[in-house]
Amino acid sequence: MTAGGGGLVASGALARSGGPTPARVLVYDHVGTLAADVRDAVEHHDPVPEIVDCRRPRALADFLTEQRFDVLVAGPGLDSRAGFERLRIIREELPSMPIVLAVANTAELDVRDVVRAGAVDLVEIPIPGEKLRETMDRALQLARRTAEVAGPGTAIEPVRPDSSIPKRVITIASASGGCGKTFLATNLAWFLTHHAKRRVCIIDLDLQFGEVSASLRLRPRYTITDLIQHDNDDEAEFNAHFEEFCETHETGISVLAAPRDPTEAAAIRPADVGRVIDAARAHFDDVIVDTPPALADSVVVAYNRSDELFVMATLDIPSIRNMQVFLSTLERLHVSNDGIRLILNKAESDAGVEIRQVLKLFPQGFDATLPYAREVQRSINAGRPVLATNPSADISRQISNSMKRLLPADAQDRFTEYEAANRPGRFRMRNRKPKAVTA
Ligand SMILES: Nc1ncnc2c1ncn2[C@@H]1O[C@H](COP(=O)(O)OP(=O)(O)OP(=O)(O)O)[C@@H](O)[C@H]1O
Ligand SMILES: [Mg+2]
Repeated sequence: MTAGGGGLVASGALARSGGPTPARVLVYDHVGTLAADVRDAVEHHDPVPEIVDCRRPRALADFLTEQRFDVLVAGPGLDSRAGFERLRIIREELPSMPIVLAVANTAELDVRDVVRAGAVDLVEIPIPGEKLRETMDRALQLARRTAEVAGPGTAIEPVRPDSSIPKRVITIASASGGCGKTFLATNLAWFLTHHAKRRVCIIDLDLQFGEVSASLRLRPRYTITDLIQHDNDDEAEFNAHFEEFCETHETGISVLAAPRDPTEAAAIRPADVGRVIDAARAHFDDVIVDTPPALADSVVVAYNRSDELFVMATLDIPSIRNMQVFLSTLERLHVSNDGIRLILNKAESDAGVEIRQVLKLFPQGFDATLPYAREVQRSINAGRPVLATNPSADISRQISNSMKRLLPADAQDRFTEYEAANRPGRFRMRNRKPKAVTA
């Protein structure tokens, strides 16, 4: 599953034949006593269901990936946008496992979130004992009925997360502004989420004028400043709550937003940035770091933690010159050359600069030369990556082809099929009149 990096184990302890097997209930509650309350509420069952207590979002995914559960009680900590998105993914992968939503204030909930999360019941905390007992009876009965319909032996073997590609930090940089860093960050995030089911987090390290949230039309409740100020001295707490400070886009991409106020940037130290990236790496498969067009210390921290560093320029002389200066400065700062990849963006044939001449200036070569495309502006205004809004556009095909190497091998094969299905002209061909056959 994407929420944990691998496939989930189908629910179904109740489905196994050969005597009554206790049901297994997973209770998520990052602070309180919900698990104990649920334990009391199911005591009268025979056999008594096994209650497993989970307090960390990351552990939730691991539990569901590695063990079988018949019911999930989603308590405080999952009643956020990111939490609902997580539940939606769980629901998609384990459609037969009833989810009971236990939240502190039902009045504040958006009913669409509840529906998307696929909750079979909604209760408000603190839950009176009798009410919780009824809720759990219903959920366990529902799980039992689903198991009976599915029949014994329906449990699916766990699907292991794809381990062929380790976790990665990918940073996108440029010396000049407006080269398309934010554009590439959001599209790369979509590409890895969509084609490889990787869990991706974009960290907006453009601490003064970050635009990741705006370009995905997100309204983040928290920012990197809130994360850094929260439990600043307690590393374990800092790591445990990382995901709660991220906002999740409808496509599943998580974003740690830039500060709301540019003056907050000064208070964020390079060491803080290092901790943030490390925490993100612990929670996600791929961390994409969007940066400002500047060589600030905090940005160099990101470069040094990156497995890949994309450096962008546009097809104009100042930007290309700055790219040269930027690369030689990285060398002086002892940033490793290994993962550096160059991208030329907004390349138009009538730009007055010969692409061939530019390529000669950079012997390491460019990973991609992306065209200027009208679709980009429209996609940004729609709050979705152009790869999602216009998959068959030239720009989308060029981005995808240059990023394909970042997919695991099996995802590369699936991507080739996807690409064939989105080939431009495919639908036009269908409507063409058949050619007249001449004898
Ligand atoms: N290939 C492209 N075709 C057309 N427009 C593009 C393309 N790439 C980026 N843009 C547009 O160019 C503008 C700048 O892009 P973007 O914000 O991604 O650059 P940036 O490098 O993040 O800028 P900054 O340095 O200010 O953070 C945006 O309006 C974006 O929509
Ligand atoms: Mg930007």
